[in-house]
Amino acid sequence: MSKILIVYYSYSNTTKSLAEDIAIITDGDIRELIPEKPYSFAYNGATKEVRNEIERGYCPKLISGNEPINDYKYIFIGTPNWFKSFAPPILSFLRSVDLKEKIIIPFCTHGGGGFGQIESNISKECPDSKLLSGFAAANDFDDKQVKKWIDEINILG
Ligand SMILES: Cc1cc2nc3c(=O)[nH]c(=O)nc-3n(C[C@H](O)[C@H](O)[C@H](O)COP(=O)(O)O)c2cc1C
Repeated sequence: MSKILIVYYSYSNTTKSLAEDIAIITDGDIRELIPEKPYSFAYNGATKEVRNEIERGYCPKLISGNEPINDYKYIFIGTPNWFKSFAPPILSFLRSVDLKEKIIIPFCTHGGGGFGQIESNISKECPDSKLLSGFAAANDFDDKQVKKWIDEINILG
């Protein structure tokens, strides 16, 4: 079994595509976080609601992805940048598994804002985990950049 797990939430599949690249490069296991109630930005006020969820630290119920992580050493955590932070399903994950003594590697995709507060918010939420240098990508990342970053963090024994 792999010691590497890639966990991600993705609304419009950009982060999913990055997560899949990471899984191929690292030969890690991959898990998508799926909230019970899917997000939709098709109606007025939806983005405001999500911003509000993020501000109050709301944890949506997950129907998949928050299974135990006991056997993994390295946990990649991927999210779109939503209002400078991670999407709410990430908070649900961080609060439902035991990340103590795990090594967390954040990644995100964004529309120009890079990581924003994503890394610092993960670090606040997981004070007993070690954080390695993450990777923030706009939607035009390529495999070579992803490979270079994974070489740099030097986790592939
Ligand atoms: C509700 C919402 C809020 C967003 N807020 C930001 C932001 O604050 N900064 C930014 O750079 N991009 C922002 N974006 C753009 C997304 O981060 C970007 O399109 C991302 O690649 C989408 O990833 P996904 O396809 O995995 O969902 C936002 C998108 C949505 C839907």
